[in-house]
Amino acid sequence: MNLNIKKRFLEATLGKKKNPIICLTAYTAQIAKIVDKYADLILVGDSLGPVLYGFKSTRQVTIGMMIRHARAVVENSKKAIVVVDMPYGSYENSKTKALENAKKILELSGADAVKLEGGEKIVDVIKHLKKNKINVMGHLGMLPQQMNGNYKIYGRSTVEKKQLMRDVKSLEDSGVFAIVIECTVKKLVDNVIANLSIPSIGIGASENCEGQILVTEDLLGLTDFESKFLKRYAKLSNTIEKSVKNFSNDVKTKKFPKKKHLYL
Ligand code: KIV
Repeated sequence: MNLNIKKRFLEATLGKKKNPIICLTAYTAQIAKIVDKYADLILVGDSLGPVLYGFKSTRQVTIGMMIRHARAVVENSKKAIVVVDMPYGSYENSKTKALENAKKILELSGADAVKLEGGEKIVDVIKHLKKNKINVMGHLGMLPQQMNGNYKIYGRSTVEKKQLMRDVKSLEDSGVFAIVIECTVKKLVDNVIANLSIPSIGIGASENCEGQILVTEDLLGLTDFESKFLKRYAKLSNTIEKSVKNFSNDVKTKKFPKKKHLYL
């Protein structure tokens, strides 16, 4: 990707209210090819742990997994900005280690930016990445890496409300180019994004966010993840099961393969 990420994102948001930013996840070549046609931004999310590997949470995801999947996505997308999640444990404890890991992820995958979960607590890490020319996307509200599989709505208590306000402000000051806000009370989201100078990307946040994101496998109905914020556009797991069952029956009853499937 040779265009500066901020410039591309600004272009995408110039007509802010008219052109919502389309964001979706992709972890594989086939999904990336399709999503790239419609999305401004593709996130190689660490949700790939539960979605592709059947992990209980995103915490078991490794840097190696993120690089491997991100590379497949980068190589199979042409126009979308590709952002890669930094996995749990790879950035929170040391800014030196965070920089080393972010460089490794971006150099080996060819992606445009990394995404980190958290606000105030990791702001020094983000500033260090930015100082070293790493593009960073923020992630606030309900943080899956912190929840370890037990998701809950963020922003009902006064403590959480105040914390989100401080987190948004510190991320904005740190130079992230956009902020994902996940599973958070709408009124609070509307308050914090009202004067935000960078785009907010909602997932269970508010229709007033400049962009929206969902996990592609969730909207396709390939996972059985349930949430109020999820709109399913298909139930592909049923289609897959039906097809596999039909194949199995065809083989059992000798209906497959037929002559047309063989090299005569
Ligand atoms: O990991 C992921 O897919 C994410 C999105 C849900 C925003 O962080």
